[in-house]
Amino acid sequence: MYLGLDFGTSSVKGVLIDGKQKIIATASAGLKVSRPHSGWSEQNPGDWWKAANTVVKSLGKVKPKAVAAVEGIGLSGQQHGATLLDRSGKVLRPCILWNDARSFEECKEIMAREPSALEIAGNIPLAGYTAPKLMWVKKHEPRIFDAVATVLLPKDYIRYRMTGEFASDMSDSSGTYWLDVAKRQWSDELLRATDMRRDQMPALFEGTDATGRLTAAVGKEWGMPKLPVVAGGGGDNAASACGIGAVHDGVAFVSLGTSGVLFVSNDKYSPNAAKAVHAFCHAVPGTWHQMGVILSATASLEWLAGVLKTPAPQLTKALGSKLVGPSSALFLPYLSGERTPVGDAQARGLMMGLGHETDRKAMSHAVLDGVAFAFRDSLEALKAAGTDVKRVMAVGGGTKSELWLKIIATALGVPVDLPAAGDVGGAFGAARMGLMAATGASYKSVCAAPKIAKTILPEKNAKAAYEAAYGRYTQIYPAIKEIRL
Ligand code: XUL
Repeated sequence: MYLGLDFGTSSVKGVLIDGKQKIIATASAGLKVSRPHSGWSEQNPGDWWKAANTVVKSLGKVKPKAVAAVEGIGLSGQQHGATLLDRSGKVLRPCILWNDARSFEECKEIMAREPSALEIAGNIPLAGYTAPKLMWVKKHEPRIFDAVATVLLPKDYIRYRMTGEFASDMSDSSGTYWLDVAKRQWSDELLRATDMRRDQMPALFEGTDATGRLTAAVGKEWGMPKLPVVAGGGGDNAASACGIGAVHDGVAFVSLGTSGVLFVSNDKYSPNAAKAVHAFCHAVPGTWHQMGVILSATASLEWLAGVLKTPAPQLTKALGSKLVGPSSALFLPYLSGERTPVGDAQARGLMMGLGHETDRKAMSHAVLDGVAFAFRDSLEALKAAGTDVKRVMAVGGGTKSELWLKIIATALGVPVDLPAAGDVGGAFGAARMGLMAATGASYKSVCAAPKIAKTILPEKNAKAAYEAAYGRYTQIYPAIKEIRL
């Protein structure tokens, strides 16, 4: 038996699989984000640990024998968060999350202090990444900065609680801005540029390697007497890629979750920093990946749902499933700034083309279109980095809306494959990594692609109108970027 745990932003999910990768049980527990100031986003690492315990114990309630037979655990998690520990392993402050925009000034400082930063890290420094967050802490909370003995990414903090080890994997570590992504090792240049040291970094492993074992105390608490090995695991996107079989050159998927991601697996390191493409190590050995990242994907629809006081599924349902053309309104989904292609933490969203006729349907449709156009921007950025995307799989909560998938297929101009029901997200990919770490099986044999339930093709009759609307969309940001509210 193997367990995958995924530490998302809104919940922790657990998936238990057997040696044939059959799903035996799943469980989840919710998490809250605190936003103490505009643009800030934090979570208490202790809450992740509580939620992990809730998840494992609920699995143990329904499948005690299967849980007792667990031999390998894999971890997946929201990337980039800065979990700061003192010398005794105590958490020094709430974790500053991936979608926290406070450290935009610090990004400029990194560029000024290390001229080769872009080549080493595979992207421009972005406020979401871990390194600029530590520079912000140095400036605004110097006593905390001085006490930092170890910096861990969210899933790696859980690993520490599970095994007592400070360890991370290559894919998640790529999002710190301290990794030399081509060489798969910490970069002394980038650490120096942010006044950090190697001894504050965890040990590095491939996602499929074993990093340690569950401690006897946690094994007892969780009902796992075999004290399973804990795999390196991966950042949530790389772990999802392992779950969906996107581990071979050119295989791509879109993740339609809180954030939106266009992910492509690569045989080699292929950066395009000018367009804020994230060129990262993959969670499997000798492999890299590129990502375009949209900070507010389903988060944009959730925002509108909040404003209109109507649940998001109701908003999409009201639009039906037939796609005739784009909305008469245009929406720029930069509610918490944007990563790809603009790399601008201070940008904000916009709804334009409003008229007396604009109703809640037109606004909901505009949000779906705006997120699809943001994916198209990412596709163009990946193309400019030499990547040809012929089709994509789609995962994440937003894929429940068939209309949204049609809009994405039409805006991207490629077929969208929807995997058959089943858990193919980060937790499943993490469970696969737990299996590989425990058995030594190769990723090529374990990370197979799922069955495809249906393929959504671009809507021919709407294509030209979507091209024209995308053309208008691309003009919005350059026109408004100097206007700061
Ligand atoms: C990727 C990113 C997000 C988080 C969300 O760079 O920031 O996808 O990992 O979970």
